[in-house]
Amino acid sequence: MTFTPLLPTLRVAPTKIARDTYLIHQVQEALGQPLFVYINSMVILGAEPVIVDTGSPANRRQWLEDVFSLVAPDDVRWIFISHDDVDHTGNLDEVLSACPHAQLVCNWALVERYSNCFDFPLRRCRWVMDGESFDVGDRTLLAIRPPAYDSPTTRGLYDPTTKVYWAVDSFATPLPDAHAAVADLDPQFWREALAMFALGAVSPWISLVDHDKYGAYVSRTQDLDITTIASCHSPVIEGPFIEQAFSRFRELPSLGPLALPDQSVLDQIIEMTSSPS
Ligand SMILES: [Fe+2]
Ligand SMILES: [Fe+2]
Repeated sequence: MTFTPLLPTLRVAPTKIARDTYLIHQVQEALGQPLFVYINSMVILGAEPVIVDTGSPANRRQWLEDVFSLVAPDDVRWIFISHDDVDHTGNLDEVLSACPHAQLVCNWALVERYSNCFDFPLRRCRWVMDGESFDVGDRTLLAIRPPAYDSPTTRGLYDPTTKVYWAVDSFATPLPDAHAAVADLDPQFWREALAMFALGAVSPWISLVDHDKYGAYVSRTQDLDITTIASCHSPVIEGPFIEQAFSRFRELPSLGPLALPDQSVLDQIIEMTSSPS
């Protein structure tokens, strides 16, 4: 199969974020802004290796090379899909074909919604719902829904042995520098970026919910003993930034709907990117 990349992607090599735990990176340029957005996925090299989400089609060749530089396809035992968006399922077909011994951790809603474009191998599927766990040999991973999400299929993934939480689309932020860490960001920029992405690009429904109920919901994940947040769309969040990220999310219900780029912005982008005739 040949594949033509849809969007330019910047190369960032996989990084080790905890014992046995690696992030696979893709970095995409933001539309019309001098900003960058990560599209990450994760690999856990335990007794039964786990691939957590499968990247995007735009980065297919590099994504497959990066993942299989860490684990041999025959050794992969689990493929965990957080939800049915293309930046999380983009190489699912390829990785299922490459890893014949892997079970696919998904759920009913994911199969129901995604069967219009994907032929699920049901005998290889394991349905793990929000709040349920599954044993991967040397650890038991907890599937737990993150504070912001854009599909009812969504579950994050908590590894109690490394205290890493895969937060899926939560805590997403654009970056002024593709290699910036959270500590490098201006604190006000980060606060506004967290809100912009959470309310504007992932979970506009948060502006509709009861503040206290949402706070209790956020506590489900914050009360886990987390030392590293790995988000699909952020550098890792560690140390004092974990508390800051959760605190910012607790404010989201009171921030209301945000003004988002409209047709006038699209017109400006087209003008900026048009080559002179
Ligand atoms: Fe998503
Ligand atoms: Fe995403």
